[in-house]
Amino acid sequence: MNSPLPVEQNSEVSMSKLDELKAAESKLLLGTYERYPLLFVRGEGVHLIDDHGTRYLDLLSGIGVNALGYAHPALEKAIAEQSCRLIHTSNLYYTEGQSALALRLTEATGMDRAFFCNSGTEANEAALKLARAYARLKRSEGTPLGTKFLALENSFHGRTMGSVAATWKDKYREPFDPVMPGVEFVRLNDVADLKAKFSTYVCAILLEPIQGEGGIRPLSQEFLQTARDLTRSTGALLIADEIQSGLGRTGKFCAYQHYGIPGAPGEPASTGWIQPDVTTLAKPLAGGIPLGALLCTEEAARAIHAGMHGTTFGGGPLACAAALAVLETIERDRLLEHVTEVGTYFREQLTRLARQHACITDVRGLGLMLAVELDSADLAKSVLAAMMDRHILINRTSETVLRFLPPYILERQHVDQAIAALDQILTEQAAPVAAAPASGGTKIGS
Ligand SMILES: Cc1ncc(COP(=O)(O)O)c(C=O)c1O
Repeated sequence: MNSPLPVEQNSEVSMSKLDELKAAESKLLLGTYERYPLLFVRGEGVHLIDDHGTRYLDLLSGIGVNALGYAHPALEKAIAEQSCRLIHTSNLYYTEGQSALALRLTEATGMDRAFFCNSGTEANEAALKLARAYARLKRSEGTPLGTKFLALENSFHGRTMGSVAATWKDKYREPFDPVMPGVEFVRLNDVADLKAKFSTYVCAILLEPIQGEGGIRPLSQEFLQTARDLTRSTGALLIADEIQSGLGRTGKFCAYQHYGIPGAPGEPASTGWIQPDVTTLAKPLAGGIPLGALLCTEEAARAIHAGMHGTTFGGGPLACAAALAVLETIERDRLLEHVTEVGTYFREQLTRLARQHACITDVRGLGLMLAVELDSADLAKSVLAAMMDRHILINRTSETVLRFLPPYILERQHVDQAIAALDQILTEQAAPVAAAPASGGTKIGS
């Protein structure tokens, strides 16, 4: 067998493992990523450990995936045991796990049925297909519904041709034009724009209750309620993309559950929130094993019958066993309460920092889906680099936004470590505030 790494032979200077990988990847991989120069070899709790044994506090958790952190014993055990029994058979046969997982997810989300796939974009792709199929069914039953989708400015829904068509930034769509036609974008939280663009031509509104990639931007209560009312008035579907905000990240199982509807007419008695027709989940669902899910109402599910949609890998026994372990751990360890408690503390500390540093223009988010917005993209870039120098991993999104998506097992001491580092870096890199602007941040309902 050939050496897998095309490293220059007889080099006088010995290359580090990281340099070897860089050289190999630059020749062998499609150039989709500009990676940071870090080589991680294992993880423990909220820490990643590089090839020199240096520990990094991970406040990004694999972009919102590793909710239980690293090397969690319950997850390790579930994966190890299931891998010895059965990893894959396809969806041609029954396996244990899918219906047990579907039961837990439907109960937690107020939905009726589930479809499992492998990623967020696939879950959204399934949702878009379901909406088209449902509109077609409704047309056959005499209800006029078109094929158009409304999505929101700043949205991110994935990279496949349908999901990317509903994704706001040109840079994700334009190189691949023509992507799926029929998507119109609505200004975030602009109720008048939403009403103006909605009609019976629309088969679904697709939205993130709290936009993730777009900079941790929550929908207002009025906007989500209007989207619900409009779709209900025509029979179009309301699709909540909870791929980043779902599964407890905001302190509730889904972020839409923060949007209450006390006493609203026509809502199912079992839910006190604005209930969408479809929701999509992925990222932390199986704790790092790829798994996505579409959940929908019985009514929407009428549009799908055998053979219309499918997947080879989706909902395989290994991923389902891992997901059940994740959900059991979230419940057993009361992690939603923990996320709320630590997340509230984190947000308070960020808000306190905002009073001390004029360069922080906003603090946003809920639970452990948090962000601070800075007044310049260059500053955000250099703060991220300086945090990395201090062995703390965060992310920059939407140019000026520092995003925090840490594991749910984060403790106050980790928040303190991050806040102290941020404070020091902002003091060094940006002018301190003269009189506090006291950024209260953007809240749901604002
Ligand atoms: C809200 C949202 N939807 C969809 C996706 C796409 O998920 P995936 O990368 O698993 O395809 C992401 C990924 O970041 C996301 O944040």
